[in-house]
Amino acid sequence: MNFSKTLINWYLKTKRELPWRETTNPYNIWLSEIMLQQTRIEQGLPYYNKFITAFPSVFDLADASQDKVMKLWQGLGYYSRARNLHATAQHVAYELDGEFPKDYKGLLKLKGVGDYTASAIASISYNEPVAVVDGNVYRVLSRYFNIDTPINSTNGVKEFKALAMELLDKKEPSNFNQALMEFGALQCKPKNPLCDSCPFNGSCLALKEGKIGELPVKIKKGKIKNRYFNYLVFSSEENKTLLQQRQGKGIWHGLYEFPLIETKADIQKARIIEENNEFRQLMEAKNVSVRLYNDQAIVHKLSHQHIYARFWLVASQTLPKEGISAEKVKEYPVPVLIQNFLNEIDIENL
Ligand code: ADE
Repeated sequence: MNFSKTLINWYLKTKRELPWRETTNPYNIWLSEIMLQQTRIEQGLPYYNKFITAFPSVFDLADASQDKVMKLWQGLGYYSRARNLHATAQHVAYELDGEFPKDYKGLLKLKGVGDYTASAIASISYNEPVAVVDGNVYRVLSRYFNIDTPINSTNGVKEFKALAMELLDKKEPSNFNQALMEFGALQCKPKNPLCDSCPFNGSCLALKEGKIGELPVKIKKGKIKNRYFNYLVFSSEENKTLLQQRQGKGIWHGLYEFPLIETKADIQKARIIEENNEFRQLMEAKNVSVRLYNDQAIVHKLSHQHIYARFWLVASQTLPKEGISAEKVKEYPVPVLIQNFLNEIDIENL
């Protein structure tokens, strides 16, 4: 039996039952595939269910407020996916009469849809023979064929896409693509792959060469950056606080957070105040008391940066801007770091 037949047989026996596998509706497939980028199925599944319940059609998603979409996405990370998802839903609903483009090329034009997502939707929804290459696929193919081209190099991307296209079962692109991804997730796992029970253990080249643990090869990019966040948790006499929405290109765009003073290092109260004008003015203001909430900085690790966070409780008679009543705070989409803090303290009784 050839590679693709063996793989599809394995899939039909082993595959998980998942809600988006019961339909070929491009809305469902698009939603699931956007969510599953850089996300494991177990983590993405509850989010998919929440979204489909809240927004059964692309029109419901298009009509929702950005804050509602971001709130439901909260915790899934890579928030640009949620912003693009919302923008694309509005484009499809209002400009394309609710109809997703009907092929790979058309799908690729949608915001937030790259080669991976366009291939997944085209093959699963429309049976178009285009190969999907995600992290699982890179792992399976690099091991089976013992390929050490870095998967995040331009050459690697081209080489693996071409190989996947060559292997693709042109009559069953949906099953083939999902089988390869599922195989990477369940059998050819990153750590401790199940080679003993693998249907390919007689033909896998990396297994033969003892190189399973070394593949796939990835070029290491950039150092982890440390950042020091000081959040000002205001509480006024009216029991209001301040939140602001993050803008710009960096992390958490579109989410809300307490007013932030970012410093170059994790510094103690006195030095922060001396070095930072904003802080100094705050501390010296009349009728304001500032107290450090956490002596130990909270470390929040993202893929390319580590955030060291401190929360400062700022009691003041009035607020510099229009405040938000404490009970409304929980309705805002916030980073997990802030949500954890909110879960720990009683914001309504600071
Ligand atoms: N990972 C992302 N999308 C998937 C799919 N459709 N099947 C299996 N694994 C996946």
